[in-house]
Amino acid sequence: MSTHIGAQPGDIAPLVLMPGDPLRARWIAETFLEDARCYTEVRGMYGYTGTWQGHRVSVQGSGMGQPSLAIYANELFREYDVQSVIRVGSCGGMTEKVGIRDLVIASGACTDSSMNRITFEGLDYAPVADFGLLCAAYDAAIARAGDEGVHVGLIYSSDSFYPTRPELTARMVEHGALAVEMEASALYTIAARHGRRALAVCTVSDHLVTGEETSALERQETFGAMVEIALTAGTAQD
Ligand code: HPA
Repeated sequence: MSTHIGAQPGDIAPLVLMPGDPLRARWIAETFLEDARCYTEVRGMYGYTGTWQGHRVSVQGSGMGQPSLAIYANELFREYDVQSVIRVGSCGGMTEKVGIRDLVIASGACTDSSMNRITFEGLDYAPVADFGLLCAAYDAAIARAGDEGVHVGLIYSSDSFYPTRPELTARMVEHGALAVEMEASALYTIAARHGRRALAVCTVSDHLVTGEETSALERQETFGAMVEIALTAGTAQD
C-alpha cells in the first residue's frame, strides 16, 4: 500500500487517466466507466477503477503542479505496475496558432521547474510523449472532428500559474510552445525513468493572448470529448 494512494496491489488498472482535479476524476468515473469503484480518498485525491468498452481503466487525480503530480505518478509506476498514464487537463493558449477550446496533444513539454534541473544538473533533458499513445490520440481526435482545432506540439509546464516574470514565457513561444499548463513535463520525465508510457492531452480553457475564457459548460463539454479521446488512445493497443 503506497503512502499517498493507499490502494491494494491490483486495485489499479495498467491504464490510468490523470486529471489534475480529483472531482474531475470522480466525474470521469461516474460518466464513462462501468462498475467504477473508488480505491482511494486519501487527501481527497480520488482514484477509481472501472471498465470502459470492456477495458479495465483507472482514473486518478494528480493535484496541481509538478511536485503533486510526481507523488502520484511515482507511486503508480513503482507500486501498482501502471503501464500508461494519460493526463487529461486544461491549458492556457500562448499563441494565436491555438484557439480557445482547441485540443493540444503535447509531443513534448519544456519547463521552468527545478525538478528536472536538479535531476539532470547542467544537462537539458527533453521530456517527450510516448509516440504510440500520441499517434493513437491524434487518430482518435481527428476521427471525431477532423483536424480543425487539433494541435500536436510543444507545451510549457510552468511551476507558476501567476508568473512573476511573464516576459520570459515569450521566449518559450518563440521556440514553439503552444500552451501552458503545470504538470506534463514531470509526467513525461517520471514515465521515462520507469520505462512506461505517458501522454498529456489538454483543452485550451483560457487564452493568454486574446484573454478569452471558456464557460463552465464549455469546459465540461470539451473535457468530456478529451476523455473519450484519451480512453480510445489508451485502449488502442490492448
Ligand atoms: N497557466 C497555467 N496553467 C494553466 C493555465 C494557465 O494559464 N490555464 C490552464 N492551466
